[in-house]
Amino acid sequence: MTPFDTSTTDRLLSTTRSVRRRLDFDRPVDPDVLRDCVRLAAYAPNASNAQDWRWVIVTDTEPRAAIADHYRAGIVPPMQELLDRRRADGDAAGVRHSEAVLYLAERFHEVPALVIPCIRGQLDPNLDLAWTASLFGSILPAVWSFQLALHSRGLASTFTTTHLLAAGEVAALLDIPDDYLQTCLIPVAYLRGGDLKPPDRRDPDEIIAWNTWA
Ligand SMILES: Cc1cc2nc3c(=O)[nH]c(=O)nc-3n(C[C@H](O)[C@H](O)[C@H](O)COP(=O)(O)O)c2cc1C
Repeated sequence: MTPFDTSTTDRLLSTTRSVRRRLDFDRPVDPDVLRDCVRLAAYAPNASNAQDWRWVIVTDTEPRAAIADHYRAGIVPPMQELLDRRRADGDAAGVRHSEAVLYLAERFHEVPALVIPCIRGQLDPNLDLAWTASLFGSILPAVWSFQLALHSRGLASTFTTTHLLAAGEVAALLDIPDDYLQTCLIPVAYLRGGDLKPPDRRDPDEIIAWNTWA
């Protein structure tokens, strides 16, 4: 007997996908559900248990539209270029991915909730790897917990970083103070249709190095 029903937990872990085409743009997201998912996310590990994070949840129409413009400016030109290359190469899976990314970009302003997890800290090229890892490592596990909690409640999301190309503009728009760093942006909506399928991933034996790299 395992302490959890692993058929359920394994299904959650393997089917929490990046959802773009199946977001329900018409159904507002219940703030209580978002609050509950942030509550669960906050159980994640974080350096020194400082919990110096702030989850900025944007549901108002105007800031969502402004953020969507920044997002599109960052992602559409390179993704269109990648799509063209993938088409030329006959890369069907790559084409599907690029088309889905462009679809989400086009409708980004319609996503009911844009969630920006922030952590107190500064990026500094003089900081060592350990410091930088502990900065992002103090929030990204919580972000994934947040996405799992959303999925288990019938919502869907995608981990994105593109808006960070305009992090300064978005910070100004949302009054995010200088001592906080935006780490990503999670568009959140209810999932349309049935549950998701596990994606293709590399086999563990291809990616594990036991005891030594070789
Ligand atoms: C660091 C990082 C940045 C990402 N940025 C974006 C993004 O800006 N836009 C987007 O649509 N997807 C983004 N993704 C999602 C990936 O495209 C996605 O996780 C990957 O294609 C695997 O698909 P899956 O999550 O459905 O298994 C990002 C993922 C990661 C981990």
